[in-house]
Amino acid sequence: MSLLIINIKELLQVRETNVTIVKGNDMKILPTIKNAYVLIDYDTIVEYGSMDDYENIEADEVIDAEGKIVLPAWCDSHTHLVFAGDRSQEFVDRINGLTYEEIAARGGGILNSAEKLQNISEDELYEQSLKRLNAVIKLGTGAIEIKSGYGLTVDAELKMLRVIKRLSKESQVKIKATLLGAHALPKEYKDNKSAFVDLVINEMIPKVSKERLAEYIDVFCEKGYFSLEDTERILNAGVEHGLIPKIHVNQFNAFGGVALGVKYNALSVDHLEELNNEDVDALKNSKTMPVALPSCSYFLSIPYTPARQIIDAGLPIALATDYNPGSTPSGNMNFVVSTACIKMKMTPEEAINAATINGAYAMGISNQYGSICRGKKANLIITKEISSYHYLPYAFGDNLIDKVIINGRIVL
Ligand code: NIG
Ligand code: FE
Repeated sequence: MSLLIINIKELLQVRETNVTIVKGNDMKILPTIKNAYVLIDYDTIVEYGSMDDYENIEADEVIDAEGKIVLPAWCDSHTHLVFAGDRSQEFVDRINGLTYEEIAARGGGILNSAEKLQNISEDELYEQSLKRLNAVIKLGTGAIEIKSGYGLTVDAELKMLRVIKRLSKESQVKIKATLLGAHALPKEYKDNKSAFVDLVINEMIPKVSKERLAEYIDVFCEKGYFSLEDTERILNAGVEHGLIPKIHVNQFNAFGGVALGVKYNALSVDHLEELNNEDVDALKNSKTMPVALPSCSYFLSIPYTPARQIIDAGLPIALATDYNPGSTPSGNMNFVVSTACIKMKMTPEEAINAATINGAYAMGISNQYGSICRGKKANLIITKEISSYHYLPYAFGDNLIDKVIINGRIVL
């Protein structure tokens, strides 16, 4: 089965060699070919080039993309897409004056989602999550990381991770699973946090690793949640069981979580709304990807991750949604890219690099996803007819996607 796309107004993120990360000043460069074609064989990009060099290629299906732009599907490296119900009541409570932290302190927030999740069946959780997954695919997401963390018991965490596994088996998109056992402290452990950390270390991590239900280990390292010491204990145990750290740090407070992540060779450190010079220094000479989640900043009205400071220090940055019921009830990567340009002063080139190749890096898949490169997976977005790729972030809130191709198949 082959698919040929011709007369593409502009083909974005074209890489002759298999670049797997883009940093600093290089993020300003988005290689493109104007008036281009792409040839897909089965699930793989096999050829591309300028229409000037195009000589009749036989293909099973041909798409004429005149006036349209083609780019790699979004790589969303941080989500909590598997959850039960929603938290729209807390949204209204926040409008009426409570803060996210106050809601959490009175037993709402993550504990609210955990109660809902503990009380629904695995099948129901799967159905609710599949709907959201299909919706984000239609918005152009072709690879996605999904975390546990609304279980907070061994059984409920395993239930979440089995749902993620089932999604990854049954969906065409690439899915990576993360164990976020330490997301909040359950009520029963209110006065005994170390016992809950012990549970994560002695039961959750070994079971998840034995059943190969996750590749990554996450911790919500934050005041009122898990300290540096708790985080270090969990990362140690995770690494011992072959899990790679990808952690929540610096969402509300900066107190050394970034350096800790780097020390444990975290693949990514995510949030970073509060970032100081020591954090930036810790990231230099590391292989850890800083990940910004601008929809979370938007929804909670908290600071945006200082992307300029990060990029201008020569570092890479990735963009992801953080799709979850509490702080970011949106899995729309198009909105993330727009918001990064509008609120974080990232250029369209930087934002697209951050949401494709660097997002893929933050999931450990950038050798196969995130750019138009011969041999890479054919996960592509074809836009509607637009004036230039700058129009994508500019026309925020508009749906400019005409077609989505996942593994060489048209899914929208
Ligand atoms: O990444 N910060 C921690 N976890 C999620 C939010 C969890 C929730 O409120 O349900 C986040 O923002
Ligand atoms: Fe998150």
